[in-house]
Amino acid sequence: MNVLLIGSGGREHALAWALAKSPLIEALYCAPGNAGIDQVAVHAALDVTDHAAVAAFCKEKAVDLVVVGPEAPLVAGLADDLQKAGIATFGPNAAAARLEGSKGFTKDLCAKYDIPTAGYGRFTDAESASAYVREHGAPIVVKADGLAAGKGVVVAMTNEEALEAIAACFEGGFGATGAEVVVEEFLEGEEASFFALCDGTTALPLATAQDHKRVFNGDEGPNTGGMGAYSPALVMSEALIERTMKEIIEPTMRGMADMGCPFTGILYAGLIITKKGPELIEYNVRFGDPECQALMMRLESDLLGLVLAAAKGEFEGKSVAWRPESALCVVMAAKGYPGGYEKGTEIRGLEAAGSDEAVEIFHAGTKVDGERILANGGRVLGVTALGATVAQAQTRAYSAVDAIDWLEGFCRRDIGWRAVEREKNTR
Ligand code: AMP
Ligand code: GLY
Repeated sequence: MNVLLIGSGGREHALAWALAKSPLIEALYCAPGNAGIDQVAVHAALDVTDHAAVAAFCKEKAVDLVVVGPEAPLVAGLADDLQKAGIATFGPNAAAARLEGSKGFTKDLCAKYDIPTAGYGRFTDAESASAYVREHGAPIVVKADGLAAGKGVVVAMTNEEALEAIAACFEGGFGATGAEVVVEEFLEGEEASFFALCDGTTALPLATAQDHKRVFNGDEGPNTGGMGAYSPALVMSEALIERTMKEIIEPTMRGMADMGCPFTGILYAGLIITKKGPELIEYNVRFGDPECQALMMRLESDLLGLVLAAAKGEFEGKSVAWRPESALCVVMAAKGYPGGYEKGTEIRGLEAAGSDEAVEIFHAGTKVDGERILANGGRVLGVTALGATVAQAQTRAYSAVDAIDWLEGFCRRDIGWRAVEREKNTR
């Protein structure tokens, strides 16, 4: 089979690495890719916002399946346009991608299909949103409605903070995304991510993970795309996974089909485990980055076989096999991230650092310059390791990090701390 992968981050390098191992693969193309992806896939020089150009490329190269990594092309309707051109695509169409593209859409779905989530209101003007805050009181959460690259959420500990966030949204602080806000109840509990693979009617549970969104050790500092992740998330017991499938994922699948927009692709549920059980805080319509790097290390089944079955609505008899180990990914970022940072600095020692069989170094923002690998983004590498425990995966990942010679980079030193504590306490 010929496959085109869309995306350029660490998530896509992990997907490319797993797809390239498939016994079904003949040619793997990636657009726009990065220096790491180029080691396992053929670079396709394509503007992925030009859907007609992507479809023409697929025809020319006889591409059998397109796998879309990030959310933006899905929300923009890439899957719709490819399907119209007769090209099988893994990823939801624009109507189904509203699960990530519009927080208000997802909250209304939860209300309609009785899916546990925080109580909420949707507002298109500051005055009524502010009135809701005064009525319900802090702690309370303010969310700009559309895609905001993780920056549209304010967890307000005081009414003043919430009112300021509302004012900022409607004053254009988030661009078009701020034209509507959701204000919701603050939920208390540990967060976990849950991934399911969906074929339009059926959802197969994949795995759990936890990421670390804050930039500094101890979960301090500003939010980022994710500074590290591990899988499985020990907080998610078998019983909680079963409840998540029954109470959240399956009603979502039924609801989406009911509303005429069946969901195909990866459903990534952001959960808070409250005293009552799992509650949905958000959906994403793609793998998490860097959660995907940890998941791909653990996946034993053939990824291409699974995503192909999902795209064709053929889950009948499918199951997913996982390695018994845990996996942990440490993100190395350019100093200054998530603020301003330098590009073009040289990274050395990658080969030696990745020589341990249990370690893979996924590239997120890199480019090749002759023999040299240069940093080319904020999040630059995802150093990922397997281990019998999260603690062992953590030790291996940090040994590899320490073997990388990149003065202008940094990472958190405590990825996986919750799981490592839990392992200590249950031993
Ligand atoms: P989101 O972009 O919706 O994932 O929100 C970003 C972060 O805000 C989440 O990872 C949570 O830490 C926090 N958050 C979002 N919604 C809530 C909520 N209702 N209660 C408590 N924390 C929340
Ligand atoms: N790591 C969080 C995300 O991919 O949204």
